[in-house]
Amino acid sequence: MIEIIQGDITTLAVDAIVNAANSSLLGGGGVDGAIHRAAGPLLVRYCRTLEGCRTGEARISPGFELPARRVIHTVGPVWRGGNRYEAALLKACYENSFELALQNDVRSIAFPAISTGVYGYPGEPAAIIAVSAMLVYEERFEQIIACCFSAGDAALYRRVLAELREQSPVQ
Ligand code: AR6
Repeated sequence: MIEIIQGDITTLAVDAIVNAANSSLLGGGGVDGAIHRAAGPLLVRYCRTLEGCRTGEARISPGFELPARRVIHTVGPVWRGGNRYEAALLKACYENSFELALQNDVRSIAFPAISTGVYGYPGEPAAIIAVSAMLVYEERFEQIIACCFSAGDAALYRRVLAELREQSPVQ
């Protein structure tokens, strides 16, 4: 089941929330900052042991003080106009996060709109990549949540989900 909600991902009591991190994995602004604040200082201590993460890859940590049991940290691409493999790298973020989730028995997972804040990826193409990956993995999870921070993003995701379902309806 894919659910699109508007809200703060740090409040969700799911098996794993995904963090739109940077390659240091040591925190930053946006959703990364919010996750580190809500998880408490043990998260950055744990993340130091992970020794970073390349763009498109993913790493997992406990959720510490978060209601979510785990955090999957992935590093989205910085938007540089669209010809620097941004789409393939963003797709890899979703796929690698889902695969790491499956390896760790995660049944419910929530994603922010990776790369669409500080990293500048345009909203609609990013939403198409996100929702396409969610549709591929839908059957393998109990719950996949697209946690949009703004009402506009949630509306965009709902439209993209409806359009993609229409293009390839479930048999
Ligand atoms: N819950 C859900 N979504 C959120 C939240 C939240 N609490 N806070 C922000 N968003 P961004 P990026 C949305 O900038 O573009 C950091 O400094 C936000 O509105 O957090 O991948 C990292 O350390 C947007 O839609 O991530 C990196 O350096 C989405 O989350 C860099 O930013 C992603 O915005 C990563 O940039």
